[in-house]
Amino acid sequence: MAPSKVAIVGAGAVGASIAYALMLKDVASEILIVDVVQDIVTGQVLDLSDVACVSSTKVKAATSKEAGQADIIVVTAGAKQKDGEPRTDLIGRNYKILESVIGGMQPIKPEAIMLLVSNPVDILTQIAQKLSGLPQKQVFGSGTYLDSTRLRALISDVLNVNANSVHAYVLGEHGDSQFVAWGAASVAGKPLLDFPEIQKLDRKQVQNNIAGKALDIIKLKGATYYGIGACAADLCESIILNKHQLRPLSVFVPRLGCCLSMPAKFGYNGIEEIYEIPLNQDEEQQLQASATSMKSILSKF
Ligand code: NAI
Ligand code: LAC
Repeated sequence: MAPSKVAIVGAGAVGASIAYALMLKDVASEILIVDVVQDIVTGQVLDLSDVACVSSTKVKAATSKEAGQADIIVVTAGAKQKDGEPRTDLIGRNYKILESVIGGMQPIKPEAIMLLVSNPVDILTQIAQKLSGLPQKQVFGSGTYLDSTRLRALISDVLNVNANSVHAYVLGEHGDSQFVAWGAASVAGKPLLDFPEIQKLDRKQVQNNIAGKALDIIKLKGATYYGIGACAADLCESIILNKHQLRPLSVFVPRLGCCLSMPAKFGYNGIEEIYEIPLNQDEEQQLQASATSMKSILSKF
């Protein structure tokens, strides 16, 4: 039977948005909700159970131990950025939370897939690969999937085509050092840079706007959660249905020696293949800069 019991550890705005989006997809048999604040768990479960009008997915309160036996474990526990705060400033607090979350789950089901969402997601993904004891291919992060979605939405508006017809990636860190792989982007097989509308754009400004969108939203409403809710639910659906889709995910990239986002094919056995898309010299330098920044932070853990 396809794996379809999904545990969401951290039932705040992001965890609840993921649960809600996943329920609407009606592909999971069960969603387990875990949090250190029991009232949050009870409240989210009661609220989500009212999605029954459009979903047969069962939603239940669960312990960390029960979460460890799920097919997919989504980790959203942790502190979030304040106005103007970079994601990397969260590492001290969220490392400790991740340590306690994973410790509380052990023993983890050997076939489980662990999807990291908490920030800084690239660093926490690599730490989770170490702490969980799961095979590396079964532990990955949402990475720049959200940033790539933001980019495709922007290009969709510029070209007046559906975002799903735009093949474009933001790669590297889900953070300030991320970059747009313009050279590999296309619509209907035509290079994006051949579109006059794209040539007119200030591409550096577009890249900065995408990288800064989270803080723009946080300044206005205090947090972001709907975008990541949809992205993480899409990843869970792809795993459950074993779709072998490609998404920019935070994965361990051997040649870089750390976790960063590259296009990766995945299914219910985890990461199947990392696709090294062609990068020009500037893009490769930006990727290497992301890796250097990640490794300098990781060296402290
Ligand atoms: P939130 O504060 O609404 O929820 C966090 C939840 O984690 C709280 O309910 C808290 O009780 C819980 N928690 C704390 N320690 C825990 C533990 N040891 N075990 C279980 N639960 C625990 O925050 P929000 O907005 O849901 O953000 C959560 C994380 O997701 C943050 O790190 C944020 O930066 C990250 N995020 C990541 C995105 C991405 O694209 N990767 C996008 C948006 C947010
Ligand atoms: C975002 C932050 C919160 O990209 O990671 O929305």
